Amino acid sequence: MITVNGVNYEIPAELHARKLSDWLREDLMLTGTKIGCDIGVCGSCTVLINNEARRSCKLKLKDVEACEIVTIEGVSGPDGGIHPLQQAFMDAGAIQCGFCTPGMVLSALALLIKNHHPSREEIRQALKGNLCRCTGYQQIVDAVELAARTMYHNEI
Ligand code: FES
Ligand code: FES
Repeated sequence: MITVNGVNYEIPAELHARKLSDWLREDLMLTGTKIGCDIGVCGSCTVLINNEARRSCKLKLKDVEACEIVTIEGVSGPDGGIHPLQQAFMDAGAIQCGFCTPGMVLSALALLIKNHHPSREEIRQALKGNLCRCTGYQQIVDAVELAARTMYHNEI
């Protein structure tokens, strides 16, 4: 069984070799997971697997048996609305064409789950596997800093 955004799916044996990214997009219609390179280089297909950022184009369904997966469709704020991290991407101007954004958000979320107050260098390290052709990256780092301040302001 695989859990995606809180929903459980039994995976028949004939699907064990199916690529996770294709299954998410084509079978579950979760097309927020983007395919850029399809060979594990660009990070646009990043999803959370047990709260770790992983490239879904590099995984088969048999690799994620019994795992909990979160795609960008499963990311929301405490009230069910937009997540503070997504809001921060908008507020910081970290989105242009938006193709990299789902993967960026999920890589950043994996970081913020573990590290509530990352430095800019730690943010850069966490996002180094996610390529963006548009923004120049500075606004994305700004967005993650802003999100950390918003999400964990009561810890400062
Ligand atoms: S599509 Fe998976 S890393 Fe590029
Ligand atoms: S916003 Fe276009 S690739 Fe990042």
